[in-house]
Amino acid sequence: MTFKVAELSDIDKVLELHYKYQVDSIAEEDKKDGFVTTPFTKEQLTELITKEQGLFIALEGEKVLAYVMAASWRFWSIWPMFEHMIKDLKNLTYLNQTLNVENSYQYGPICIDKSVRGSGVLEKIFDFSRERMSKRFPILVTFVNKINPRSYEAHKRKLGLEVIQEFEYNNNHYYELVYDTSKRSL
Ligand SMILES: CC(C)(COP(=O)(O)OP(=O)(O)OC[C@H]1O[C@@H](n2cnc3c(N)ncnc32)[C@H](O)[C@@H]1OP(=O)(O)O)[C@@H](O)C(=O)NCCC(=O)NCCS
Repeated sequence: MTFKVAELSDIDKVLELHYKYQVDSIAEEDKKDGFVTTPFTKEQLTELITKEQGLFIALEGEKVLAYVMAASWRFWSIWPMFEHMIKDLKNLTYLNQTLNVENSYQYGPICIDKSVRGSGVLEKIFDFSRERMSKRFPILVTFVNKINPRSYEAHKRKLGLEVIQEFEYNNNHYYELVYDTSKRSL
């Protein structure tokens, strides 16, 4: 398996993986292992790549088996949920710093094909993206929906992210987590 920063020519394969596990199109039996919510478009992923170099993928041959998205808060701010999180950054402190849009970025979603879950791809792709984003930001911020226990276990227990607070938005309950990007997770 190889890991790389995605190029524009990878977008169609990323969207194929994405819609296999997106809430509106995921198979019913796969829902218990988590799903991704946002219905990303080709245009949004184009911007993620060209403006942020923020799409990271794992390839087996031609097939994309995992992706991580990560970008500045500016990129995410078109979605109201992120606008809400941005407004709240000033109330959070980590690594002796008050969080803001300069010292932190938003990691996620992450999606791994079920054929390779539990095989270490999680740790490898997380570290691959962490290392690259660490050149721009000291602090990773993310959130996990409380109805996604697999993702919570993966991020809290296996990768070592820390819960900084819990919050509610649109009747959903979330953990907000942080990570020091200078720290290798492997
Ligand atoms: C979330 C995701 C990235 C995690 O990657 P993964 O390869 O499945 O993670 P792992 O299997 O290494 O780790 C998950 C851990 O949670 C455990 N787990 C699985 N289901 C669980 C559940 N319902 N409750 C508690 N723990 C659970 C697993 O056993 C594993 O622990 P172990 O390795 O000690 O056995 C992946 O499952 C995925 O892409 N899911 C669909 C999309 C998604 O939910 N993305 C996250 C939201 S943005």
